[in-house]
Amino acid sequence: MKKKVALIFGGRSSEHEISLRSIKNVFEALDKSLFEPFLIGISKEGSWYHIPNFETLKKMTGLSDASLPREAQPTTLICQKGRPQFYLLEKQIAFEVDIAFPVLHGTFGEDGTIQGLFKMMNLPFVGTGVLGSAMGMDKEIMKRLLTYAGIPNARYRVLHKNKPVSFDEIKNNLGLPFFIKPSNSGSSVGVHKVKSAEQFESQLKDAFQYDEKVLAEEFVQGREIEVAVLGLNDSPKASLPGEIILNSEFYSYEAKYIDENGASTQVPANLSPEQVQNIQQIAVKTFELLCCDGLTRIDFFLKNNGEAYINEINTIPGFTSISMYPKMWEATGKSYSQLITELIQLGLEKYQRDNQTLFNYLALENKLDQK
Ligand SMILES: Nc1ncnc2c1ncn2[C@@H]1O[C@H](COP(=O)(O)OP(=O)(O)O)[C@@H](O)[C@H]1O
Ligand SMILES: [Mg+2]
Repeated sequence: MKKKVALIFGGRSSEHEISLRSIKNVFEALDKSLFEPFLIGISKEGSWYHIPNFETLKKMTGLSDASLPREAQPTTLICQKGRPQFYLLEKQIAFEVDIAFPVLHGTFGEDGTIQGLFKMMNLPFVGTGVLGSAMGMDKEIMKRLLTYAGIPNARYRVLHKNKPVSFDEIKNNLGLPFFIKPSNSGSSVGVHKVKSAEQFESQLKDAFQYDEKVLAEEFVQGREIEVAVLGLNDSPKASLPGEIILNSEFYSYEAKYIDENGASTQVPANLSPEQVQNIQQIAVKTFELLCCDGLTRIDFFLKNNGEAYINEINTIPGFTSISMYPKMWEATGKSYSQLITELIQLGLEKYQRDNQTLFNYLALENKLDQK
């Protein structure tokens, strides 16, 4: 029997539109001989809708409560008799699903919140669980763990909204230019290269719009190299690395998604076998360290002196037509469709493993039975 897969997209994050681009590719790559897809869109306001067909999805660039496609049906995730299902609020019918594939980037998708909901509803899901998602999303927590494990990453300091730090203090600490970025964000939203005291104030104000916690980071000069990791936490495999070749000052939102000439990608990256091996090893170690499961894209700066720094990790990387995660697997010999199949199988396997953990105290139950 075909497994029923809830493909969940949209969401409340600043990367809502990117998710819409990703979901179209994931839907098309899904092997329909093995899986039956159900499209579940989350609006920018946070409402959930069942989208009955791909034709409707194809026309959409975003989902907002005020301008819904006619076909969208309000829905909610429930669990009845231990079985997770989507309940259509107006039609008053429910349909069961076997697994969720959250194709949601950023806050409320990649940060452990929706993974918590899946766990509560007994719904298997693709990707990293609550803990790893939350740690991977928060750049400060991620960097603390990397540093603890001796994995090189840029020097930084944490800025809190209510405890301002002066430009000079940061400059003396990290040098100039430096980067500022919201600790929890993505797609370069709120990321700035700071070059002068004049710009700093407005750039910092912008970054604080997206998080109460902002990181200031030393500027790392080097190539931007990415690696795709696939597998459960005890058996991850790394793809061949790819490279982002910048034609702009840094890999900003515009360079990623708007300006066609902002950046180009090279997959696989032009690296020596030793460099590839080194980067793959660090990627796998990082995946294990940060409690990742299923998939994660690990992003590096390869410095001119050959040192590889971790920049960040993405537990639900992009699946847009320019996205590196599927491209890097293609270059490593795994087709898009095969990749999606494996991700779903890994999610099901993880659920089965988790289910072997006891949540009740057996010895006590036996004693109660004997009474
Ligand atoms: N410390 C840094 N040194 C040099 N470039 C940086 C640094 N931090 C970020 N960048 C640039 O900004 C881009 C986005 O930053 P990143 O930390 O990856 O945030 P996001 O999660 O939004 O993608 C990077 O791809 C890189 O081009
Ligand atoms: Mg990034």
